[in-house]
Amino acid sequence: MKRHQDKRILVTGAAGGIGLATARFFAREGARLYLVDLPGSPLEASVPDLAQAGDVVLRHLSVTDEAAVKEAVDDMIGCYGGIDAVVNSAGVVVVEPALEGSIETFRRVLDINLTGTWIVSQAAARHMAVNGGGAIVNISSVYGFQGAPNRTAYCASKGAVVALTDSLAVEWGPLNIRVNSVVPTGTRTPMVQGLIDRGIYNVDAVSRRTPLRRLAEPEEVAAACGFLVGQEAGMVTGHHLRVDGGWLANGYLM
Ligand SMILES: NC(=O)c1ccc[n+]([C@@H]2O[C@H](COP(=O)([O-])OP(=O)(O)OC[C@H]3O[C@@H](n4cnc5c(N)ncnc54)[C@H](O)[C@@H]3O)[C@@H](O)[C@H]2O)c1
Repeated sequence: MKRHQDKRILVTGAAGGIGLATARFFAREGARLYLVDLPGSPLEASVPDLAQAGDVVLRHLSVTDEAAVKEAVDDMIGCYGGIDAVVNSAGVVVVEPALEGSIETFRRVLDINLTGTWIVSQAAARHMAVNGGGAIVNISSVYGFQGAPNRTAYCASKGAVVALTDSLAVEWGPLNIRVNSVVPTGTRTPMVQGLIDRGIYNVDAVSRRTPLRRLAEPEEVAAACGFLVGQEAGMVTGHHLRVDGGWLANGYLM
């Protein structure tokens, strides 16, 4: 019996990076997956290896589209008969000076990272609440706990995801819905690669400041999601699990 055998899990942002690594992790563990990403994203590219592992349904939508999310969650209930867990990994980063940033950019980042997390969580929790509970894992960030230059909207959105996680954990605890977040440091995904390619992400500097002296791998973030969804974490809610190589513990220059 695999650890997450037959668990029905929805993963957003599943076409790439942490979301894809998380989908692969749960597929290996026997879960039944409902994978969501934007229209035009390469969700299908991940199917061949995932499909071999078991049930996988793909859905192209934006997590900011409340009606589409509700319809997808209803479809998932139709396919699998319920929903046991959600991993909210859909997200974007924008790097720009705060004095130059546009209101449109700020709203877009908040809309995807924060409101999208809220929309998916609420749609899933409405089913979990009447079916004995479930687990929700949000991907926050070390920048949900710290500021950083040129990342105003991103830091604001991730700080809000931390507060959202705590609030939902408190409100939905009595419904046996556990809500936690994983707190990654810089992780080797297409998001970070895009910043590296534009010359605005210094891997050496990030590694030097990190006690473990490297970036995280998406599989390491996925494993933390696996723990928080699993039965071993049955008494864990409102927790923010750092996968940051000691980044947040470090108050010193390295
Ligand atoms: N990579 C890092 O260093 C890092 C660090 C801390 C936190 N995070 C967070 O982890 C999460 C995943 O990041 P990643 O590095 O894997 O990024 P990524 O860009 O590699 O993958 C993100 C995925 O989300 C999808 N997405 C974006 N907007 C969407 C929307 N509106 N609806 C549905 N899907 C959407 C993208 O298409 C993409 O496939 C994000 O929330 C990010 O903020 C990443």
